[in-house]
Amino acid sequence: MCGIVGIVGTGPVANRLHDALQRLEYRGYDSAGVATLEPDGTLVRRRAEGKLANLSARLEKDPLAGAIGIGHTRWATHGAPTEANAHPHMSASVAVVHNGIIENFAALRDELAATGYPARTETDTEIVTLSVTRELDRGATPGQAVAKVLPQLKGAFALAFLFRGFDDLLIAARQGSPLAIGHGRGEMFIGSDAFALAPFTAKITYLEEGDRAEIHRDGMTIFDVNGKPVDREQHLSAASALMVDKGNHRHFMSMEIDQQPEAVSHTLAHYLDMANNKVDLREQLPFDLAGPDRLTITACGTAFYAGLVAKYWFERYARLPVDVDVASEFRYREPPLEKGGVSLVISQSGETADTLAALRYARAAGQHVMAMVNVAESTIARESDVIFPTLCGPEIGVASTKAFTSQLAALGALVVAFGRARGHIKPRAEAKMVAALTGLPGALSEALKADGHIEAVARVLSRAGDVLYIGRGTAFPLALEGALKLKELSYIHAEAYPAGELKHGPIALIDEGMPVVVVATTDELMEKTISNMHEVAARGAKIILITDRQGAALAGNDVAEIIVVPRVDPFVAPIVNAVAVQLLAYHTAVHMGTDVDQPRNLAKSVTVE
Ligand code: G6P
Repeated sequence: MCGIVGIVGTGPVANRLHDALQRLEYRGYDSAGVATLEPDGTLVRRRAEGKLANLSARLEKDPLAGAIGIGHTRWATHGAPTEANAHPHMSASVAVVHNGIIENFAALRDELAATGYPARTETDTEIVTLSVTRELDRGATPGQAVAKVLPQLKGAFALAFLFRGFDDLLIAARQGSPLAIGHGRGEMFIGSDAFALAPFTAKITYLEEGDRAEIHRDGMTIFDVNGKPVDREQHLSAASALMVDKGNHRHFMSMEIDQQPEAVSHTLAHYLDMANNKVDLREQLPFDLAGPDRLTITACGTAFYAGLVAKYWFERYARLPVDVDVASEFRYREPPLEKGGVSLVISQSGETADTLAALRYARAAGQHVMAMVNVAESTIARESDVIFPTLCGPEIGVASTKAFTSQLAALGALVVAFGRARGHIKPRAEAKMVAALTGLPGALSEALKADGHIEAVARVLSRAGDVLYIGRGTAFPLALEGALKLKELSYIHAEAYPAGELKHGPIALIDEGMPVVVVATTDELMEKTISNMHEVAARGAKIILITDRQGAALAGNDVAEIIVVPRVDPFVAPIVNAVAVQLLAYHTAVHMGTDVDQPRNLAKSVTVE
C-alpha cells in the first residue's frame, strides 16, 4: 500500500518526512520521494527507486530547505516502479502524492491531452496533477482547484497537495483510503495512519469519506463531500505504543471492514498490470498453468469459503475442475491425489494447524503446493512451493474480513491467469475481468456507505434466535460466510443453504417472523433466488435482501429490508456482497454487546487441531 505523509512545519521538513515514511515501510513500497516548497518559492522534489536509503542518500547530496512538504512511498499500480513514476508528481504550480487507484484515469488522460495538458508518465497520479494544474491556470485558488477536480475522479484513493506560492497550506482528500491529520504545536501533519505521525504528535483527526482538508500551521478546515465545513473529532492515538492502532474505530473489526478498499487495491496491485488490463503473475511456477487437469483447495473457516467461491470461478471461467474441502476433513480422509498435481491452501495467518497438515499431505503425495497467505513469514508460506500473497496488512479482529476480500481478489486474478493459459479466457474477456477487479476498491467504498442503514437493519437480527441465509451460485458461499460471521460474533444460531435446496428440508424451519437473509445480486440466477425468497416470505419469514438496484426493483412488497450494494460485474459480486454480510454481523454483535474483536471461545490463529 502506498504511504502518504505531509508536514506544515517551522523548520526544514525533508528529513522528518523521510522519518515518517520509514514508519510506513511496513506497508510495502518500491520507490519513494518528497517535495518541499523552497524558500525561493519553487516546488522541488527528490525521488528514488527502491529503498528509502536511496532517497536518504539523494537528500544528503542535495538537501531541501523548505518548511512545508509532502512525501510518499509508492507501491506500483499503474506504471513500473521507476524514479520517473515515483511520487510526488509535480507541475510548476502543484505537487501531488496519492494512494489508491483512479479508475477513470485513461479517459481523463485523453481529455487532458486534448486541452494541452499531455501526460508524461504511465501513472494515474499524474492525471490529478495535470487536472489541478489546469484549474490553477484557469485562475482557481488551490482550494477551488482541488474541489473542482475531486468529483471527476473515480475509485478509492487518498491525496495530498502542496502548492507554489502557498507556504502555509497543504490540502488532503480522502475517498476510500484512510488519511490521518496530526495536530502539533504550531505545526500540522498528514499521514496514511497515526503510526506514521507517532513521533510528531498523538493528537489525530481522521478524515471521513469524501472529506477534503485545508491544513495550515495553526489548524485546519475540513469540508465534507458537499463542500460544507464540518468538525471531525480529535482523539489521542495509542499508535506510538502499539504499531496497530484502532484509529477512530470502536473495534479492530470495523476498522478492518473499512480498510477493504485499500487492502483489495494493494493486493490487486500485486497481481494486475492495470495499465494494460491484464493479469501479470510475478510468481515463478514450477508447472505450466495450462497443465493441471484439477486443482485441490483446502482451508479452514472464512478462508475455506474463499476457496468455495474460487471453485465456482475456476470451473466456470477457467474450465478447471476444483475439489475444495475443509482442511480438518481433508487431512484424514485419505483422498487420492495425483502425483505432479496441484494443491492450493488458503490461510490468513499461515499457521492454521489443519491447513498446514493438509499442505503436508499434498506435498507427501508429490503435489505442487501453492499457498495463499497474508503473513509472508508464516510456516505455511515457508513450506510451500509458491506463495500467492494477500497484502491487506495485519488483521487483528478474530473474525476475518479484509483477509477474505483480499483472498477473493487474488483468487480472481489467479482464475484469469489459469483461464488465459488454458485458452478459455481470451484477451477481450481478460480485459473485462481485470476491469471488474480494478473497479473493486471503488465499489467497496460505495458498499461501505450502507453502514448506517445496515446498523438499523441489524436491530432485527439482534432480537432473533435463529437466522437463515440463502443464495445461489457464488452468493451461496457468501451466505455461508454471512451465517458464520453472525454466529461467531453475536452467538445467534445461523445456517446457510443454497436457495434451491430450501424445499428439501430447511423450509420446514420457517415460521412467523424468522429472519432470512437473501444474497441475490444481478446475475443469471438472481430471478431464481428471488422466487425462493418469495416462497419463504409467503411462510412468514422476515426477509432481509442484499442486492443491487436491479434486484431491489424486482423485490416486491414482501421484503422487510433491502440492503443495496453497488451493481458490479457478477464475477466480482461476492467481494462486494462480503461487505454487507460483514457489516450486518458486526452491527448485530454491537447491538447485543458481545466482544466483537475477541468472541468467546475463538482464536485468531488456530495452531492446534
Ligand atoms: C480461525 C479464525 C477465522 C479464520 C480461520 C482460518 O477460526 O477465527 O477467522 O477464518 O481461523 O484461519 P486462517 O489464518 O488459516 O485463514
